[in-house]
Amino acid sequence: MLRVGIIGLGGIANSHCRGISQLDHVKVVAVADLMEERRREFMAQYDIPKGYATHTELLADPEIDAVGVVLGHMLHHRLTVDACRAGKHVLVEKPMAISMEQCDEMVAVAREKGVKLMVGLTNHFSPTNRRAREILDSGELGPVITAVNYMSKRWGYPRRRAQYRSRYHGGGMWLTNGVHVVDRLTWFMASQALSVSAAIGNRSYYQAADDYGSAMIRYKNGQVGLAVAVAYKDGGPNHDLNIICSEGSLHIGRGGLVEAGVWVGKGDKWERVAVEDESSNFAREWEAFHTAIERNIEPPSSGVYGRHIMEILFAAEESALTNQEVRLSSGPGWFSQESGEVATYEHGWY
Ligand SMILES: NC(=O)c1ccc[n+]([C@@H]2O[C@H](COP(=O)([O-])OP(=O)(O)OC[C@H]3O[C@@H](n4cnc5c(N)ncnc54)[C@H](O)[C@@H]3O)[C@@H](O)[C@H]2O)c1
Repeated sequence: MLRVGIIGLGGIANSHCRGISQLDHVKVVAVADLMEERRREFMAQYDIPKGYATHTELLADPEIDAVGVVLGHMLHHRLTVDACRAGKHVLVEKPMAISMEQCDEMVAVAREKGVKLMVGLTNHFSPTNRRAREILDSGELGPVITAVNYMSKRWGYPRRRAQYRSRYHGGGMWLTNGVHVVDRLTWFMASQALSVSAAIGNRSYYQAADDYGSAMIRYKNGQVGLAVAVAYKDGGPNHDLNIICSEGSLHIGRGGLVEAGVWVGKGDKWERVAVEDESSNFAREWEAFHTAIERNIEPPSSGVYGRHIMEILFAAEESALTNQEVRLSSGPGWFSQESGEVATYEHGWY
């Protein structure tokens, strides 16, 4: 049984607790939040025995094996480092952290303490995305030529908490949602980024953080992909990935111009593919984390992979400021996992 503590009880903590409640071998045994009322609500709703006011108290609990760091972006680094030092495995929400130095320290401390570090990049666990990956991996569409991943939506400015409207605190559309776009694109390109050329800025909202970003990402496998994340005042929503291969096309959508789901294009026509699995992304995410701990292998969307995604996002910010293509300075080898375990399509790259 993996005994979990959830730190931070905002909106998305519900999805984590609900997802974990669907698993037999993972259990939330404690929560931490500065607000007493939230702690009480969560403990009552999900039958959680212990509640702490601060993460420090929760991390001192010897009955906790792993934690979910589920709060504001500017706190991900500090809490992850503290949790690793306390000997807990960590699943930290996206975006991993707000600077490269922070990501590096998180990876280094997890490695030093021998604990697993995973970043909650939920796209890897969505049944729709997984079905699409299966189709790509089957080879029936031939090799990938290029891909475009969009997310455009309302930002919900009046309700958006201040931390998400300030880049200093790790906010803005690019880090908040662009991270999903860059992650899904990179995962489907199954390669590592070499360089980025981007435009990031403000067009719709007066806030101390961007509200749009578009990045052309060049990958080691020689291909280029486009990541677009826009928060508009008004428009038609997109949450679509289009992949063009040599013998067919693939579309994954949430229901913008065409019905939501996975579509395959062949013979100049599109056909919708059935997705039978309806399990929760968050249950699958925790299941994968549990497997990684139990088998002592890297989780999919590991700290090293999450770091690479942040490297692309930060390089895009630099490119937007300098008007130049930015080369990524580092990155691990992409043929093997650190544990030596055979990589599967769940991992960020092969
Ligand atoms: N994976 C996804 O699809 C997805 C979706 C939504 C949000 N998120 C991410 O989840 C994270 C949390 O987002 P949210 O909007 O639910 O958070 P939030 O800001 O609404 O909630 C944070 C909670 O943490 C508590 N808190 C702050 N400091 C604390 C401390 N030191 N110790 C204990 N508690 C503390 C606050 O009281 C608050 O209740 C963010 O990183 C966000 O980007 C991910």
